[in-house]
Amino acid sequence: MSMSSLSLTRFPGSISGLLQVASLLSLLLLLFKAAQFLLRRQWLLKALQQFPSPPSHWFFGHKIPKDQELQYILKWVNEFPSAFPQWLWGSKVRVLVYDPEYMKAILGRSDPKASGTYRFLAPWIGYGLLLINEQTWFQHRRMLTPAFHYDILKPYVGIVADSVRVMLDKWEKLIDKDSSVEVFQHISMMTLDSIMKCAFSYQGNVQLDRHSQSYIKAIGDLNNLFFDRVRNAFHQNDTIYGLSSDGRLFHRACQLAHEHTDQVIKERKAQLQNERELEKIRRKRRLDFLDILLFAKMENGSSLSDEDLRAEVDTFMFEGHDTTASAISWIFYALAAHPEHQKKCREEVQSLLGDGASITWDHMDQMPYTTMCIKEALRIYPPVPVVVRELKTPVTFPDGRSLPKGIIVTLSFYGLHHNSKAWPNPEVYDPFRFAPDSSRHSHSFLPFSGGARNCIGKQFAMNELKVAVALTLLRFELLPDPTRIPFPIPRLVLKSKNGIHLRLRKLH
Ligand code: HEM
Repeated sequence: MSMSSLSLTRFPGSISGLLQVASLLSLLLLLFKAAQFLLRRQWLLKALQQFPSPPSHWFFGHKIPKDQELQYILKWVNEFPSAFPQWLWGSKVRVLVYDPEYMKAILGRSDPKASGTYRFLAPWIGYGLLLINEQTWFQHRRMLTPAFHYDILKPYVGIVADSVRVMLDKWEKLIDKDSSVEVFQHISMMTLDSIMKCAFSYQGNVQLDRHSQSYIKAIGDLNNLFFDRVRNAFHQNDTIYGLSSDGRLFHRACQLAHEHTDQVIKERKAQLQNERELEKIRRKRRLDFLDILLFAKMENGSSLSDEDLRAEVDTFMFEGHDTTASAISWIFYALAAHPEHQKKCREEVQSLLGDGASITWDHMDQMPYTTMCIKEALRIYPPVPVVVRELKTPVTFPDGRSLPKGIIVTLSFYGLHHNSKAWPNPEVYDPFRFAPDSSRHSHSFLPFSGGARNCIGKQFAMNELKVAVALTLLRFELLPDPTRIPFPIPRLVLKSKNGIHLRLRKLH
């Protein structure tokens, strides 16, 4: 018998042998995974035993219907003091904290951002200030802090005011046709306009431009897709996600967002080729955001790679407009729902600004009542509902309970701001909580987070909110649309499931 006919007759046998080995290996792998899962779960249950949690399924965790998350949190914040473990699935758990003392304990440390969650943002905003940790974060934060010096922020008040006026002019034309307007979209265009002009020296008319509209749409999609991915056990793996329809949508939306930011970088670089523009920059005592990045690169090519520069631009483009759009939209809704406070704000602004033709930096700390109303809206509707950290060392809270290294902690600002221990009658809109003589825990109000990794754009944002509220109240009365009451849902920023619809009445 020849060799070839020998191997042919043995072939079926060798296939079944291979199959047997493969099945055995798969079985072993499965057993190994199951043992790993059980051990990890046992470890977690022991580590979290001091923290009672709402009943959950051993594998599917706390099954919270989509878009009901905030309602569930409100219920649990009252049932479980300070914190509780929220099981996502299998051995995936995060400890949700919403107590001022717990916030203080975590924000006083330097735990890194939880990579398991935030890495999903990396294809979009890259490793910019929001996602980086440790030494690189420290260097970037130090490099970018001068972009938020008050010398830089001062002239921004006028630029933001111009952007707000463009939006209000649009609203005047709109209300002839339709008495209820979905304001979130308009406000997003306005805040994008502001950040592009202030931080990126952009000179076009963003609010009338079609490309900016597709950027805003891409950001909305990315917000939703990110949120869905975090909740989906099957979408944790990059390859599987990349092949899914959501993964493809995410990829496309990232491309759209990057086209927008690439264009901004390209235009500014082109302007800087012009000697006169370059001379203007050289004469400036302080550079604004994009110029700091571009010059950091020019002076020392290796210190800021193209990739780092793009990541910072993507990060600030997103953080610099979506957060403020959420804040302004919810503030407008809160004022519409509380006409007595709206009236008092308007009176304050009218006596300060007259017709509002000129609003400057000096006006910013001369509207105490309006500021109280803004803060109270930021309390009830925190634009960034949560941030997530991974404990790099064990922590013991002031009540004696501890968590070990490696646990993922979600700081729920929404839970904190609605915690009746920190805020009696938390659902009541009461600006006097922020009256100058009122007292509260240092960590009970954290819309901009706290500690070293607090919001770098806080001052810029507060000014933008004040300018938007002041100029809008001078021109419009804001009324709620009783047929479309907004329904808050958590995304990267706080959104409303059905948009934010307001009736706008022109003032004479
Ligand atoms: C009402 C508006 C805003 C709110 C409520 C807000 C809130 C926050 C919060 C809660 C954080 C902490 C994030 C974390 O720990 O994961 C943060 C960080 C950050 N914010 Fe804001 N933000 C606002 C506006 C802005 C603006 C206008 C900019 C840029 C111009 C900005 C840029 C950033 C950046 C870059 C970080 C990361 C800082 C770091 O880790 O060093 N934010 N913001």
